[in-house]
Amino acid sequence: MLAVTNCAQLVTLAGPARPRVGPEMRALSIVEDGAMIIRDGRIARVGKREEVEPHIEPEAQLVDAGGRVVLPGFIDAHTHLVFAGTRADEFELRLAGIAYHEIAARGGGIRATVRRTRAATEDELFALARRRSEWFLRNGTTTLEVKSGYGLTAEDELKILRVIRRLNETTPLRFIPTFLGAHTVPDEYDARRADYLDLLINEMLPRIAQDGLAQFCDAFCEEGAFSVEESRRVLSAAKRLGLGLRLHADQFSDGGGAQLAAELGAATADHLEYTGDRGIKALRAANVQPVLLPASAYVLGAKYPVARRMIEEGLAVVLATDFNPGTSPTPSIPMVISLAATQMKISLAEAITATTINAAYSLGLGARVGSLEAGKDADFVIYDCGDYRELGYFFGIELAKEVYIGGRLVFS
Ligand code: NIG
Ligand code: FE
Repeated sequence: MLAVTNCAQLVTLAGPARPRVGPEMRALSIVEDGAMIIRDGRIARVGKREEVEPHIEPEAQLVDAGGRVVLPGFIDAHTHLVFAGTRADEFELRLAGIAYHEIAARGGGIRATVRRTRAATEDELFALARRRSEWFLRNGTTTLEVKSGYGLTAEDELKILRVIRRLNETTPLRFIPTFLGAHTVPDEYDARRADYLDLLINEMLPRIAQDGLAQFCDAFCEEGAFSVEESRRVLSAAKRLGLGLRLHADQFSDGGGAQLAAELGAATADHLEYTGDRGIKALRAANVQPVLLPASAYVLGAKYPVARRMIEEGLAVVLATDFNPGTSPTPSIPMVISLAATQMKISLAEAITATTINAAYSLGLGARVGSLEAGKDADFVIYDCGDYRELGYFFGIELAKEVYIGGRLVFS
């Protein structure tokens, strides 16, 4: 038995067993002066100290939170963790005024990372991703969705997905793999897009589904990447194979990506910087969760999505880092919370909901993680502050003091 006591705020997120919408996103179910009992890696009891402490057995291992804040581990529902190299060179070019699309048109962008990732061995990619996974842990993230998409051959996509599997098996973090073969058309298929789509649908997807290497399939639905029709073909094939769906939609233009996500019954539609009224209504009607990625809008100096409207329309909003080498080189959910608050006027409570319980549901993990409730996995973080709002107030600092996954201390 493990017992955590003396928590100034135990931010439990207890509530209905479904994603939170509208005013529910502001209800964090905070227990002041709280305590929590953990048995066999799962939460057994949560409440006020005076209610919980009598149930602590004498041989229990005690954790004194020292009057600090305790939250569920963050769930980062959109990352591109596995890649080789950086794109610091392109970052400098963009600062000098050259646009992301211009750099991509010159052979940079996603394709530059694809070249480096193809050249890397599985072991090299694993070592890089494992090191980065520690950056996430230090910032309070305990579960990550990770997309492939920098391989773009059957062998290189499988290599990336095997790295994600190995991360799951050998690090304390929890990883959910997503196949993003439809990230961009690789150089060698420039003149024969249709052949690349055939390869994706007829070769890559069946192999990945058969080996159980991905839980979701994603596509980059955007001018210059994949059209609505092409994305529909890829995602429909994935759906027939039993994969869940996510979609990069409307990042640079309102191209009907949100409507496509709704039509296909995707779990999420991600980015949505340019999604308009029709897209928002479609997401609402189909219960698709928006995954908003303010760090990439920040890095690109681009438009932010209309997050407040989405919350007011009753969408179960999720916030994530979009960690990737091109548009969002940050592993920090607290940084994302700061951006969501200052740039999109999302309240701090809404932002916590969007990075815990709502993110968990978007990955099909709502019954297991995302809140501190009896029966759930004991994934929680003690932060070096006395009020949860400080997580979005201070920025550029790592406030996580101790991180526990499955009741085990994995960072301090
Ligand atoms: O989510 N939009 C597409 N994919 C990434 C960017 C990837 C890259 O530039 O390497 C994103 O922002
Ligand atoms: Fe992305």
